[in-house]
Amino acid sequence: MTDPIRLDGKVAIVTGAASGIGRATALLMAERGAAVMAVDRADGAIDTANAIRSAGGQAGVMQTDCATESGIAAFTQATLAQFGRLDILHANAGISGPLVPSLSSDLAEFDAILRVNLIGTWLAIRAALPHMTHGASIICTASVAGVRAGAGGIPYSASKAGVINLVQTTARALTGTGIRINAVAPGLIETGMTSMVYEDARKRGREAKIGQLNPLRRGGEPAEIAQAVAFLASDAASYINGQTLAVDGGLTSSLPFSPRPVAGG
Ligand SMILES: NC(=O)c1ccc[n+]([C@@H]2O[C@H](COP(=O)([O-])OP(=O)(O)OC[C@H]3O[C@@H](n4cnc5c(N)ncnc54)[C@H](O)[C@@H]3O)[C@@H](O)[C@H]2O)c1
Repeated sequence: MTDPIRLDGKVAIVTGAASGIGRATALLMAERGAAVMAVDRADGAIDTANAIRSAGGQAGVMQTDCATESGIAAFTQATLAQFGRLDILHANAGISGPLVPSLSSDLAEFDAILRVNLIGTWLAIRAALPHMTHGASIICTASVAGVRAGAGGIPYSASKAGVINLVQTTARALTGTGIRINAVAPGLIETGMTSMVYEDARKRGREAKIGQLNPLRRGGEPAEIAQAVAFLASDAASYINGQTLAVDGGLTSSLPFSPRPVAGG
């Protein structure tokens, strides 16, 4: 019997594949048998594709801007040209802008963040859908910042809240197609985006404080998000649709709490 978690014979596009979560997802999906198109504007996408090939997997690479229609058309077409089909889209490329909410973010900054995180995600979905059929799966990277306040700046958090609704309304619009769409909402994960937070904490000797607000009391690894994405991409998640899966150590499951030993703990 085929293991439904496997992705053999499937073709996946991963945007933001040069580093962090996208890179981890690209590697894991390839390990599970998918052919992966690694897309990013950064050079690291080439390393990701090379790492997949060195491990015996199938990979393509496209360096382009995931926030433009032309860039998105280019990677979609390149995927079809190289692999002949499209089963999985992980729309993951993102930028954060300032991490602390400020009322003075300017319009250009707000525009740029929405353009990559929300409009770019929608454009990638729109470009992929005509080439997808029953059983295909789209996964968007949202964030706990899109669930409620406290985890990012205003433009970033609003963009990620938009992604969560984009997933819900697109699932609705896909009624009857058999194509699923879901999101993951990572908590704090050590990647290029958060390297300053981690470096700053290490410099101050406060690394042990990272992730202390969630019940698991630690930050997450890109590979832990990749596990959730690869699951949602697979037939093992065949009845999961329109959902946002928080992968955050329990952060969004709880109101703020003051850490102290619990009964029996
Ligand atoms: N790291 C976290 O704590 C965290 C938490 C929640 C959500 N996220 C989300 O995870 C996703 C991946 O981020 P990450 O944490 O792995 O950070 P990262 O900076 O390591 O990776 C993001 C990648 O996206 C690429 N990218 C950004 N804009 C692009 C564009 N216009 N065109 C092409 N490529 C572009 C970057 O070059 C980079 O390689 C993002 O959507 C981010 O918002 C991250």
